[in-house]
This record gives sequence, C-alpha cells and structure tokens, in this order.
Amino acid sequence: VTSAPPAAKKPFEDNRPIGLFDSGIGGLTILRSLMSALPNESFIYLGDTARLPYGSKSPETIKRYVKQNMTLLGNLDVKGVVVACNSASTVLLDKDTEFPVPIYNVIEPGAESALQVSTTKRIGVIGTNATVHAHAYGHVLQKLDSNCTVFSRACPLLVPLVEEGWVDDPITNLIIYRYVSPLLANGIDTLILGCTHYPALRGGIGRVVGPTVSLVDSSEAITDRMLADMAGGHFGKSTQRSLIRVLTTDVSPVFTDVATRLMAPQLLPNIELVNL
Ligand code: DGL
Repeated sequence: VTSAPPAAKKPFEDNRPIGLFDSGIGGLTILRSLMSALPNESFIYLGDTARLPYGSKSPETIKRYVKQNMTLLGNLDVKGVVVACNSASTVLLDKDTEFPVPIYNVIEPGAESALQVSTTKRIGVIGTNATVHAHAYGHVLQKLDSNCTVFSRACPLLVPLVEEGWVDDPITNLIIYRYVSPLLANGIDTLILGCTHYPALRGGIGRVVGPTVSLVDSSEAITDRMLADMAGGHFGKSTQRSLIRVLTTDVSPVFTDVATRLMAPQLLPNIELVNL
C-alpha cells in the first residue's frame, strides 16, 4: 500500500508489466491515464465484471475478491499492482495484505492531491457506499492534516449511469446536482472524485460545482504518484512497451461498448475472458 516514499534512489529498469484491477470498467480511466503518461510501460488490466458492483458489498466480501484479483495478477508476474477501484482500495488501507510486489491504492494519492490544491481545507468526497461508509478518504485526510474538514456523500446511482453510457445527459446532470449541491452548501473548495467511474462525468460534475471548486481525479493522482516513484527509484521503469492486456471475468456487448468509450482516445485491446 502506498505511503510516503523513502529517501530518493536511482531510477532502475524493470520490464515486467504493471497490473491493475477494478470491479469492472471504471478502472479503465486509470489505465488510460497511465498508458498515456507512461508510454514505455506494459499493462495487464483485470476487470471483475462478473461480480460488479463492489461498492454495494461488505468489506469482508470485497477483501475476498481483492485477494483473488491480486493472486491472479501476481501469477502473471506483474511488478506492482494498482488497485484501480476506490471501493477495493478502501479495504486495503489497514495494510494487512502480504504481497510480494508494491500495491498502489488510489485513496492516498487522491487525498494528497486534494490537500495540495485546497486552500480552505474544506474538502468534499463523492464515491460508492463502500468508500463513503468506510470514511476511507476522511481517515487518510485527517491523518495527513488534522485541520481539514471532510464532507462525504455516497452517490450510488452514478456508476450505473456511466455504465449505461449516459455521461453527458440532462438526467445524469440533475442527479449529480442532487448529490453534490449539499456538499457545496458546506463551503468546500475541493471535491475528490472518489470512484474510478467518475472521471467520465467530469464535465457534468464540473458544471455543478462551478469554477471555484477544484476537482481531484484519482487517475491523475495515481499517475503522478507512479511517475514520482519511478523518477525517485522506488518503482522500476520499463524501457519498451511490450503488451497491453485487458482481462475480465465476464464479457458482454454493452460492457465492450462502454469500455471503448472510457478508454478513448486510447484503443481498447481485445478482451480476454478469465476465471477467478
Ligand atoms: N470503480 C469502483 C470504485 O472506484 C466503483 C464500481 C463498483 O461499485 O464496483 O469504487
């Protein structure tokens, strides 16, 4: 699990792929961001589409799924795993996971970015029920800066709307307004998009919060963290991209369609079906 990096070392080479997993397709927003920022890296993405959503499940169930996903990626010899799902990252924050390669969750980099951009330290968080009810961002933000005040709101309807492809739609915009406006009444100056599906709704969320509230996107935060760790010699760098694989536990035409849109302008590779 990510934490403050130790003293700087020299960058080093490691040509193994980076593994990522999400409950489904939301984490593709992270794959897309990492693919463009790290053009020499190879990636293996696992979407547990057969068991999504994770955001409505208990921490025990999510933990079990997370272990199975990490085992599958570990068997494919990845050099590190990005937990490209906030709901799954939430259950990893207690650092009880034994895994032979580094694990990057999306919560800590997102919280750090929010503290960098916020001036009032009144920070809003939107996410799934699992993420918000575990107070995942609140705990990390408070640990990093006890002066900040965190206001969270679970927005369970947003994930299915993204999966339906209604990303720039008046109905979705109304629902965003309904969820987000109470946070604005708390005077937040920063809003964390605490679910990897939400970057797809960035336009609508941005219009609701207006220009005075900064949006923090987990995909940008984790990408910045990886770039910094590679430059600082804390994580290996590859010299040439050799593969991009997308594995899922279920495939359907709707899934492929939405996944293609979430990945754009990057191309979605052929999806391989796997069993966990
Ligand atoms: N992408 C997941 C997240 O970041 C949400 C989807 C789900 O509930 O499975 O929390």
